[in-house]
Amino acid sequence: MNIKNKNIVLISGSLRKDSFNTKVLRSFEKKIISYGYSTTFVDLNHFPIPFYNEDIEAQGIPSKVFMLKNILQSASGLIVSSPEYNGEISAVLKNTFDWLSRKSVNETPKQNFLNLKTIVIGASTGKNGANRAIERLQSLLTTLGVDKEILNYSLAKASKDIFDAQGNLIIVEQNDIVEELVSNYLESINHLINFDKKVS
Ligand SMILES: Cc1cc2nc3c(=O)[nH]c(=O)nc-3n(C[C@H](O)[C@H](O)[C@H](O)COP(=O)(O)O)c2cc1C
Repeated sequence: MNIKNKNIVLISGSLRKDSFNTKVLRSFEKKIISYGYSTTFVDLNHFPIPFYNEDIEAQGIPSKVFMLKNILQSASGLIVSSPEYNGEISAVLKNTFDWLSRKSVNETPKQNFLNLKTIVIGASTGKNGANRAIERLQSLLTTLGVDKEILNYSLAKASKDIFDAQGNLIIVEQNDIVEELVSNYLESINHLINFDKKVS
């Protein structure tokens, strides 16, 4: 078993500049950094990847997909946020995971995701807080091999008024929920890191 480092990868499923999902994800990132962990924030605008197509794959997996695979392989944890579009996760996120699910030469099955401690986030302007997208994302990431105990965070009725100029959530109760979630999450990651150290 590999000794995991303390890097947490965060992927936003929204491409929108003022995305609520990106803002929520950034607020998770700030709290994680305050605990002394390193993070890698993936803005999918910087990873333009073609729609999955076996014909393209036959010519080689795109370099941006390899970059993302490398980022995931250095991670102890994964946090993904997605908008809910018509009850589903964003197409760009689904496409990214379809590519990442493809095994390249020398990789073992599900290598990129295996046992990763994971949080799934959904923020929406609607009152259901992207719950259907959260469910879909949990199911997809379970299929890809992440640790089965996926935590989740849902933010309903998102609007620009609930963030300050730095993008922090200004609703105290929501901030407290995020704080507790991050604390529990990092505790479970620490268990994993210590366990890996003991058995190696
Ligand atoms: C095509 C489309 C479909 C949407 N479908 C839903 C939906 O099913 N449920 C929901 O709560 N919000 C839905 N919304 C509203 C999104 O929650 C809202 O646009 C949200 O701000 C997108 O996330 P972002 O701010 O991170 O970009 C939809 C928006 C679009 C553009």
